[in-house]
Amino acid sequence: MTTTPPGIPADDATAPADKIDVTVPHPARRYDYWLGGKDNFAADRESGDRIAEAYPDIVTSVRENRRYMHRVVRYLAAEAGITQFLDVGTGIPTEPNVHQIAQGITPAARVVYVDNDPLVMVHNRALMIGTPEGVTGYVEGDLRDPGRILANSTVHDTFDFGKPIAVLLIAVLHFLDDDQQAYSIMSELVDRLPPGSYVAISQATYDPLPEETLERLRVLAERGKDGPFRPRTRNEFEKFFNGLSLVDPGVCSLVDWRPDLIPSPQAGAEAVAAYGAVARIDTGQRTGS
Ligand SMILES: C[S@@+](CC[C@H](N)C(=O)[O-])C[C@H]1O[C@@H](n2cnc3c(N)ncnc32)[C@H](O)[C@@H]1O
Repeated sequence: MTTTPPGIPADDATAPADKIDVTVPHPARRYDYWLGGKDNFAADRESGDRIAEAYPDIVTSVRENRRYMHRVVRYLAAEAGITQFLDVGTGIPTEPNVHQIAQGITPAARVVYVDNDPLVMVHNRALMIGTPEGVTGYVEGDLRDPGRILANSTVHDTFDFGKPIAVLLIAVLHFLDDDQQAYSIMSELVDRLPPGSYVAISQATYDPLPEETLERLRVLAERGKDGPFRPRTRNEFEKFFNGLSLVDPGVCSLVDWRPDLIPSPQAGAEAVAAYGAVARIDTGQRTGS
């Protein structure tokens, strides 16, 4: 008799081991490698090293991306009064995670983690245990189908759709290389979230990189071994927020988004090739994609 492995919904016929191909580099495991984690395989490390050779600041960049996420969640929980968080493309757990920051400020905060990688979800279910007062949920879902994520029973049981929800899309949109799809995902989210909700995004860009780095990255992209990747220009990034109310300081390098004074100094915008921004969704707002 076969039993469903821990962390996999009983109605999911495919066990995680059957869904995971360790011979192909995966963004979650490669990111874990750059962050010094242990949940990665040879193909992920080889891909991580190839990218680091072309863009040596990648490790600084991913660390700064985590610090940006920490500041964003602190802002949303402490200043914007948000108590419900939907983190899509959450990645392999790296402390502190969203629920630790949010529930550290509001113990009753509700957090749902979503990722389309089954291995990520196994780790999430095992490691991310929230406060007794709060709720922490896990959904295997794909950002390319936001309607399905929002209709998921865990999402519905966890969130009160009469109250604002913050959707976090941190370092995930650059894996969607179809622009039309990426912008329409944003429109759909904005249309379906309650008024007063927020979206927070970080996304890779090549804007600040010198020509020799760009050339090395172009060669890597042509070899096609490292999976789909779509860096976006500032204008392309700004389009995600069309019609929304940007929180100060608006669109900027993620290192410049409400930087902490301590520890200081932080990495510069030329090393960290990524934009960040947070926006509020007010009644009647729509993205203009
Ligand atoms: C670079 S990691 C970012 C992790 C975390 N958000 C952070 O910034 O620290 C990207 C994550 O997005 C997930 N991902 C990529 N494409 C996705 C999609 N279409 N739907 C859901 N998750 C996706 C990957 O599995 C991976 O865990």
